[in-house]
Amino acid sequence: MATTRVTLRQLHAFEAVARLRSFSRAAEEMHVTQPAVSKQIRLLSEEIGLPLLEQIGKKVFLTEAGEQLVATCADWLETWDRFEQSIADLKGLKQGRLRIATVTTAKYFMPRILGPFCSEYPGVDIAMEVVNRDRLLERLFSNRDDLYVMGVPPDGRDIESEPLIANDLVVLAAASHPLAERARIPMHELSAHHFLVREQGSGTRMTVEHVFRENKVPFQVRMELGSNEAIKQAVAGGLGLTVLSRSTLYPVGTNDLAVLDVEGFPIRRAWYVVRPKGKQLSVVAETFLHYLRDHIQMLAPRP
Ligand code: PGA
Repeated sequence: MATTRVTLRQLHAFEAVARLRSFSRAAEEMHVTQPAVSKQIRLLSEEIGLPLLEQIGKKVFLTEAGEQLVATCADWLETWDRFEQSIADLKGLKQGRLRIATVTTAKYFMPRILGPFCSEYPGVDIAMEVVNRDRLLERLFSNRDDLYVMGVPPDGRDIESEPLIANDLVVLAAASHPLAERARIPMHELSAHHFLVREQGSGTRMTVEHVFRENKVPFQVRMELGSNEAIKQAVAGGLGLTVLSRSTLYPVGTNDLAVLDVEGFPIRRAWYVVRPKGKQLSVVAETFLHYLRDHIQMLAPRP
């Protein structure tokens, strides 16, 4: 078999399509176009001399050759990553690439800590993926990044998670909403109001549904939106109430929204930094983790 022209780029594309079972999601993750991914896979199949993937309708299946390549490929790419990192470590401490994945809501504070970190370590090149909790778990379980920041870490002994800072969930309404004037609103009164919620797969959505269910308070969903910002705008526009992380209100507060004083709220939670148990962190990732522990309190939102 003449596989001398197999490239890392082809293997990366194949690994992503095999894992996500989708050309479009692989392209999105790799920040390239879908035809670029298809081309890499075609070149790889030609080199190997057998088809690796089969597409039936919208579904992607692995052929037998594809199955065998998946196992080899994951080990190989990880070894290569470690090699690249140890070269960066050899070239000088605190150089190289830091890969972080955060849930969408953490975007309100993570970039603010990355700024000063980058000024202190200009040799570090940072890639930060911002996805919802479900997508982040996929990345965590396939060991795609150095560190993960999320509000609801998964259960299980294979994960190490460490709380960083408060991540309370609060009930929000338009500033002009009649409930904004009230104190100690009983939670069951919320069932008379329409709610705007995040999409399925979001950590916020998961916690909110859980808390309402536990308290046996029915929950009327008026609209589902895939973005905290869109929800805040819709709530400010009077479309309903919502429950979001207090982190979404800072650092830039807004006069259009009121945090309601509802019994049982805020739901006290934390932001966690998470990694697979036993994962050997690069020097850069280790440095960032220390930096995060030492500096995160500076970002504590006002209560
Ligand atoms: P989300 O996660 O952005 O997926 O809702 C937030 C959280 O888990 O607190």
